Amino acid sequence: MNAIRLELDKATAFLPEGLLDEVKAAVPAAQQALEQQTCPGNDFLGWMHLPSGITPDFLAEIKACAATLREHCDTIVVAGIGGSYLGARAVIEALGNQFEWLANDGSNPIMLFAGNNIGEDYLAELSAYLRHRKFGVINISKSGTTTETALAFRLLKKQCEDQRGKETARKVIVAVTDAAKGAARTTADQEGYTSFVIPDNVGGRFSVLTPVGLLPIACAGFDLDALVKGAADMEAECSSDDNIATRYAAVRNALYRAGKKIEILVNYQPKLHFMNEWWKQLYGESEGKDGVGIFPAAVDFTTDLHSMGQWIQEGERTIFETVISVEKPRHTVLVPHDEENLDGLNFLAGKRVDEVNKMAELGTLLAHVDGGVPNLRIVMPELNEYYLGQLIYFFERACGISGLLLNVNPFDQPGVEAYKKNMFALLGKPGYEAETEALKARL
Ligand code: PA5
Repeated sequence: MNAIRLELDKATAFLPEGLLDEVKAAVPAAQQALEQQTCPGNDFLGWMHLPSGITPDFLAEIKACAATLREHCDTIVVAGIGGSYLGARAVIEALGNQFEWLANDGSNPIMLFAGNNIGEDYLAELSAYLRHRKFGVINISKSGTTTETALAFRLLKKQCEDQRGKETARKVIVAVTDAAKGAARTTADQEGYTSFVIPDNVGGRFSVLTPVGLLPIACAGFDLDALVKGAADMEAECSSDDNIATRYAAVRNALYRAGKKIEILVNYQPKLHFMNEWWKQLYGESEGKDGVGIFPAAVDFTTDLHSMGQWIQEGERTIFETVISVEKPRHTVLVPHDEENLDGLNFLAGKRVDEVNKMAELGTLLAHVDGGVPNLRIVMPELNEYYLGQLIYFFERACGISGLLLNVNPFDQPGVEAYKKNMFALLGKPGYEAETEALKARL
């Protein structure tokens, strides 16, 4: 298959002899534990064979719902947070035209996101904008009770009903949630919204290939078949013990054991910013527990070379980089010749902007490696649905293996509850009286 590639030589050169082999020796057991579902968190392995299990009928259902939303809405607000948000946004931004929303020619709905923060100004400004739009809402929450999302949805539901009438609102509000539990399910059933189920055995950060990601991606006008095909091809590729995902997992764990505690995901395409954000959640929530875990950071180059470049080049040598490199951009822009050459850029005349970008990438890689920063490189032939599908499954699979190599349960996130408990106690939520008292005593 045409596939994304992984280059490791600029990272493995930093490893002490024997360390990578030691880590690699543990890979088959991790693979087996995943495949035979004997690992910790084994009730959350539904993502593993999800791509190959997606049927044309299921995709047709998603596409039909997306078509209804596209017909009745010029704007679609996706309400969700964390795993119920980042995957969809990552794919939509990676594939979309970054300025289409400004041109707003109506060929695609404007996709907006809410429920991923509690900023009052954000919600006020969103509401003001929506006042002039024919908008719909996709309410995504597995638990159906997440405060950020529930709060935004309460506001959006009311505005949609007030603005478009209860009957139309019913047509343009869709729920993606648990089959039976949670307030989002209760509301969807009571109001008669179209709804999709998030499978019990797929955790939030692994759910982009369920309706959580697929419905918004289809609404934005992208090709679900190619996305799922890419993921399914990568799923097949990852069945052996030595594959692109196990190699990535092994090298990053060997680097961690060699003192490289921070991994920085790097892109050279602004469209990949939210892919970085999705990856940070995937790896951060999966590995950061029990007092261990590679810290996942991310930068957008060359932009952040002008802010974080100094630290990366010369700061504490506890970092490594994983660069996502896109071989072929969608468009061609040539640097024009200028008679006066006041900016001194005529040495670039006739070259593609991407050639400048690629030389920045190569120059940075060499400089950072010279500065003591191991570099891994993931090469994507193009930024399209098929390769994004591959990339998503590759990262998910590698994350499962990597977490097991670290000896943690990669599929839970007990630490996320701590802030919620305090927030509910401070807000006086019924049932939290004892915690409220305890916190007050501390303040
Ligand atoms: O990965 C996770 O489990 C979390 O990031 C959740 O996706 C996030 O907290 C949102 O949860 P929910 O979908 O229940 O609203």
